[in-house]
Amino acid sequence: MICLEKVSVTYHPGSEAEVRALTDVDLTIDRGEFVAVVGANGSGKSTLAQLLNALLLPTAGRVWVDGMLTSDPRWLWEIRRRVGMVFQNPDNQLVATTVEEDVAFGPENLGVPPDEIARRVQEALAAVGMEAYRHRAPHHLSGGQKQRVAIAGVLAMRPDVIVLDEPTAMLDPRGRKDVLETVRRLHREAGITVVYITHFMDEAAAADRVVVLERGRVARDAAPRQVFGDRALLERAGLEEPPLVRLAGALRRRGVPVPEDFSGPDLEALVDLLCRLRSSA
Ligand SMILES: Nc1ncnc2c1ncn2[C@@H]1O[C@H](COP(=O)(O)OP(=O)(O)O)[C@@H](O)[C@H]1O
Ligand SMILES: [Mg+2]
Repeated sequence: MICLEKVSVTYHPGSEAEVRALTDVDLTIDRGEFVAVVGANGSGKSTLAQLLNALLLPTAGRVWVDGMLTSDPRWLWEIRRRVGMVFQNPDNQLVATTVEEDVAFGPENLGVPPDEIARRVQEALAAVGMEAYRHRAPHHLSGGQKQRVAIAGVLAMRPDVIVLDEPTAMLDPRGRKDVLETVRRLHREAGITVVYITHFMDEAAAADRVVVLERGRVARDAAPRQVFGDRALLERAGLEEPPLVRLAGALRRRGVPVPEDFSGPDLEALVDLLCRLRSSA
């Protein structure tokens, strides 16, 4: 679905302000995957996100979306339609005066006929659980609700991939949970390919695969349990253990036999395990 081959990005090349943001990144994302991208501030996460729908072109190397080279101007609009983006600040993404106009904005720009737009708006709002708010003004919604409307706006374009760049960074815990659950459901039920950039390790632990960026390079690309079981890697990359992994470690140090490879993200899994241990004690 998406393929990066030896990609490097340098901002302001040749000037005094030159910054190398990504170096030799090879990455393949298959259709239907849920991939989390983590890394310290400045490790290149947002730069990577912008490469995926041709908002940014690599300085070296190549990026393909469904076989279309992002640097080929012929494919620009098709790539932008197929790869939808959701950013950190919901206030910068909502443009209209009502929720439904906002969701209709993308397909209108694509020239989709009005009855088809109405159908898509309905579907997209249902998919994020925001139908009841369709006539509301976006700026009156909570942060989490705004992000769900922003996601609906992307869904109305019928994308194959959604790239979310720290979509929960500005939200309260409730909003974070709603947004993550919405994204997980879209992935599970609609089969949408998800690239989820986050600095919350518990969110990353919910992905199928975690890509760790460290100073512009891919330091690890593996299952959550492999990434979060590697303390040396986390330390080097400036990342924390997910809270449940930390809790599992603390229990282990107190003598509770929690398996070494417990990686979360599921609170239920840990509770089950503790109950089983207790009943067998
Ligand atoms: N538009 C830009 N111009 C110059 N430097 C940039 C720009 N965007 C990002 N950078 C630099 O590139 C590096 C990677 O940034 P970024 O991709 O935003 O990382 P992250 O999202 O992981 O915090 C950082 O050193 C950052 O300062
Ligand atoms: Mg960023």
